[in-house]
Amino acid sequence: MRIWVLALTAVLTVSAPVFTPTLAHEGATGVIAERQKKMKALSEAMKALGAMVNSQSALDATTVQTIANLIAGVGGQNMVDMFPQGSVDAATSGARPEIWQNWDKFKHLADEMLHQAQTLAQTTSGQPTLRPPAPFGGGGGGAMLGGQNVMGGGPSGMPVDMTVRMNFMHLSSTCKSCHTDFRIKKH
Ligand code: HEC
Repeated sequence: MRIWVLALTAVLTVSAPVFTPTLAHEGATGVIAERQKKMKALSEAMKALGAMVNSQSALDATTVQTIANLIAGVGGQNMVDMFPQGSVDAATSGARPEIWQNWDKFKHLADEMLHQAQTLAQTTSGQPTLRPPAPFGGGGGGAMLGGQNVMGGGPSGMPVDMTVRMNFMHLSSTCKSCHTDFRIKKH
């Protein structure tokens, strides 16, 4: 996991173009190739988070936090900067021209991604391990009383692991909202 996080860090934080031809679309160049590479890395990050967040075992909060912070680093203004006016190319890019016609909405979704990723990072901050939630319908008296949710409540009073799951779902729906409005799936 550590090596994987390092690789992801490289893609998400290096702003100079890195030559990784397998990640960008064939023919895509410059800012389009660069943002596709970052989006791919975001997708890997979300897959890794999803696997952890939905796992039945205790999860490593530090890794969740690291990945959430990496995602946050690509959100907001940094995401907006990856879409300069006119960076459309029907042959290589899935970016819809509507991005620049609905710029405020696009910016809002980029900010929302930043915000949701930051919330996820904050929820996991200082929590070395997150326990899985108590199974519905009761999971045995001992577990109900002391074994589960030992970290106490999250900021909203929910068990931390439930909060993490909800934060993850909110983040994931931000990706989807923006793609629904501004991305052509097949290109
Ligand atoms: C503010 C809008 C926005 C947000 C938020 C956003 N995306 Fe995207 N995404 C796009 C657009 C637009 C494209 C098409 C880019 C292009 O091809 O030029 C894209 C493309 C992609 C691609 C395809 C990359 C490729 O190789 O062509 C993936 C995968 C992806 N996004 C994953 C994610 C994930 C995961 C998240 C959330 C963590 C996310 N995106 C958040 C707008 C967004």
